[in-house]
Amino acid sequence: MFFNKKSPSKSTEVDLTRVPKHIAIIMDGNGRWAKSKGLPRVAGHQQGMEVVKKITIAASDLNVKVLTLYAFSTENWKRPAKEVGFLMKLPTRFFDTFVPDLIKNNVKVSVMGYIDQLPLETQKAVEQAVEQTKNNTGMILNFALNYGGRAEIVTGMQNLAQQIQTGALQPEQIDEQRISDVLMTASLNSYRDPELLIRTSGEQRISNFLLWQLAYSEMVFLDQHWPDLDAEDLKQAIVIYQNRDRRFGGIKEDKK
Ligand code: IPE
Ligand code: IPE
Ligand code: MG
Repeated sequence: MFFNKKSPSKSTEVDLTRVPKHIAIIMDGNGRWAKSKGLPRVAGHQQGMEVVKKITIAASDLNVKVLTLYAFSTENWKRPAKEVGFLMKLPTRFFDTFVPDLIKNNVKVSVMGYIDQLPLETQKAVEQAVEQTKNNTGMILNFALNYGGRAEIVTGMQNLAQQIQTGALQPEQIDEQRISDVLMTASLNSYRDPELLIRTSGEQRISNFLLWQLAYSEMVFLDQHWPDLDAEDLKQAIVIYQNRDRRFGGIKEDKK
């Protein structure tokens, strides 16, 4: 048993029996990482892509069931066209080099977001990776690409309104389950809501990510920029999660 010096009762080793099944990550700080090295922002995105590969394998090795990565938000279109252009080319580069490893590790790619609004080349790269890994039965690597939590809720509500209009649904039948069913995480079934949200680079906000699904997620904010993250940092975040008391509005059982 290992102990952290500062808080002797808290373990610093991952308890492999209590690894979160769904981990969501806001991969932040690529630009600041590059700037700190005197490099253009896109160099941070390039390095960030390599880190996605490492963290994917690390999460899969820890037996995580779903890893959702926030890769491009519906708000990121506000960035300069050159940076957006670079980000749109990343999926092609990523999957060109990484699909064999994904297959070797039994990882299945999925994607959520407004994919039809992406450049055709980007759509093709993503669709191909989904197709090439569709028979894998291990971890789901779920990319949030052109994703926004509010937009997702708007689309979901339109879906419910249409069901009501056609008579398929009565307003009083709308409940949390039916709302969850029309969101972009629906295909993740019992793993829809992440137990753990990690954001890198010191920013402590949600930035329109998984607004509904994060209702009871534990949030861990790491100071490191995404391109500096490694498997040990992921494990550290999981240990922090494992040392939290998740009460869901209830009270903690007295263990005496
Ligand atoms: C995260 O890094 C990547 C994307 C949002 C696509 P940033 O590009 O936001 O990096 P910072 O936050 O400007 O440092
Ligand atoms: C959130 O990061 C989006 C992604 C990581 C894809 P941002 O860098 O866009 O968020 P803000 O602008 O700092 O809130
Ligand atoms: Mg950022």
